Amino acid sequence: MKILFIGDIFGSIGREMVDDYLHRIKNKYQIDFVIANCENATHGRGMSKKHYDELSFVGVDCMTMGNHTFDNRELYDYIDEADRLVVPFNQPKVLPGVGSRVFNVKGTKIRVTNCLGCVYMDYRNANPYDEIDKYLDMECDIHIIDFHGEATSEKITFASYCSGKANAIIGTHTHVQTADERVLRDVAFISDVGMTGPYESSIGIDLDLAAARMRGLNQKFAVAESSGQLCAVVIEIEDGKTKGIGRILINDDHPFES
Ligand SMILES: [Fe+2]
Repeated sequence: MKILFIGDIFGSIGREMVDDYLHRIKNKYQIDFVIANCENATHGRGMSKKHYDELSFVGVDCMTMGNHTFDNRELYDYIDEADRLVVPFNQPKVLPGVGSRVFNVKGTKIRVTNCLGCVYMDYRNANPYDEIDKYLDMECDIHIIDFHGEATSEKITFASYCSGKANAIIGTHTHVQTADERVLRDVAFISDVGMTGPYESSIGIDLDLAAARMRGLNQKFAVAESSGQLCAVVIEIEDGKTKGIGRILINDDHPFES
């Protein structure tokens, strides 16, 4: 079983990159199932119903979220019908959504779970360790977890904790792809899969506006306009055993090779 995990899709440029490359990636790597983090899919903030439908149409089988899940308030209207959507299980309990979901792929039950880190994140989120054992014990053949967090140390520690009970812990949120992918104690791991969005940007935001904001000016952020990049990993699992993880990076400096 080969599972593609696409890093945080950011705005229209990110969605266009998925549209342009997903079919080619699926062919090249013989992908069986596609997961994408979509918490920034609509103008960098949340995901509209239109974009949920578009990403479903182009072949994203499961969409995970993060700290920006409800930035687009339209989600409240369609979340109950969105059967491809998985939102962090340790977000405040007052918020709706499913934190772990099983997808039946060619007779194999793939569970996808989403959680938020605690380090440098919103204090209202619960500690993921409080509940993760419950999800690790749930029925499935393959278990992939999107760990949406800031700190590399928190992510690698979590991956180690899930050893023997999950197949992959994939880091999201920082938007910068790390080069530490490996199978760690039988768990496919990467600290951060990276962002699928504007290449010339500060994690998706216009560089000049980001600099003005950091200098102290009361500057609103805007999505950068530039060529796109696509960041992803391919996770390989055989008979329930994690076999490998490989990075994909596509941008002007790293063109796609078919
Ligand atoms: Fe995030």
